[in-house]
Amino acid sequence: MPDFIEEKTAVTQIGSDAISASEGPILAPVLAIETSCDETAVAILDAQGRVLVERVLSQFADHAPFGGVVPEIAARAHLRHLPAMTRAALSAAGLRAEDLGAIAATSGPGLIGGLLVGAGFGKGLALAAGRPFLAINHLEGHALTARLPGLVAEPVRFPYLLLLLSGGHCQCVAVEGVGRYRRLGGTIDDAVGEAFDKVAKLLGLPIPGGPALERLALTGDANRYAFPRPLHGRAGCDFSFSGLKTAVAQVIAQLPEGPIAAFTVADIAASFQRAVADVLADRAAHALGAMPEATVLVVAGGVAANQTIRQSIARVAARHGLALVAPPLRYCGDNAVMIAWAAIERRRAGLAEDGMNHRPLPRWPLESLSIS
Ligand code: KG4
Ligand code: ZN
Repeated sequence: MPDFIEEKTAVTQIGSDAISASEGPILAPVLAIETSCDETAVAILDAQGRVLVERVLSQFADHAPFGGVVPEIAARAHLRHLPAMTRAALSAAGLRAEDLGAIAATSGPGLIGGLLVGAGFGKGLALAAGRPFLAINHLEGHALTARLPGLVAEPVRFPYLLLLLSGGHCQCVAVEGVGRYRRLGGTIDDAVGEAFDKVAKLLGLPIPGGPALERLALTGDANRYAFPRPLHGRAGCDFSFSGLKTAVAQVIAQLPEGPIAAFTVADIAASFQRAVADVLADRAAHALGAMPEATVLVVAGGVAANQTIRQSIARVAARHGLALVAPPLRYCGDNAVMIAWAAIERRRAGLAEDGMNHRPLPRWPLESLSIS
């Protein structure tokens, strides 16, 4: 059975943006669904962005025997759990579907099977309850999480620099407003989370590889292996991780036959993590140079949970006189709170379109959402 992580959280601070009284249903709560990868998540937020209910079901145990996420298994697991999770979320919030202002679901980018399940379920619920359906971009959810009311003392204001560091994405984005995203650079090969997962696999660690590698690195010597820092010091804000992953594979291949000593595994993990942190810090510095108007530096995505990486990037932000805003760990990885919040931000900005005819998209770049 998968791990079941269930939380009910009340966030105290209320968002300050004014909401027009004439917009009626915009004042009602929003229910959101996230099924783009291997987490089934449901959340309900009130119109101010306060979290009423949040539920995340991780499928690690289902995928572990295969050493990675199997799309077909993920889609079937979403299908199995989504109805009961949604019912439980509504009941915990004391709401009926008819009471909602809107129903939102991640509609891309991601694994198409899961997206079809989540968006199809959301559309069905919206039709049955006579509520609007909103098709939300997963990356926009990560991009706007830092603005969730109550997360940080000073509300995050536009424009800000976003470092999106996840399993499928690695990019620097100038976030100029809701629906206004300018890509400054991105990976030319692997995403940073993908590199963590591949190196973790090479080291024989269980999935999810990123957190397992970080735990192991705590006990390792980060100076033992001088792994390359791809694109470090180069102009621009692009990333590259496949050469680093190959360098780790070569070091492992040159070790003596037989099981690798535990301290060597830890040293490789620590040295790899150090190299990634250095590269990300360098790329963040370049991106900040390209965006002098940034008010704050925001990190998001699963890899933003990594403490070594957070510290390196925080030092860069401080050198530019900026604060680093990183969501709490449970909002770094995939969750439905960020999808509900993106839906609320879109509704407030007058950008929420009817998503009933939206076709889920496995690829859906953030900058394609941009309004002029
Ligand atoms: O944002 P996310 O939950 O899903 C995607 O949209 O991709 O990110 C998942 C990725 C995985 O590659 C996972 O290994 C990585 O984030 N990750 C980490 C850590 N926690 C999750 N990588 C490094 N250190 C961590 N603590
Ligand atoms: Zn994600």
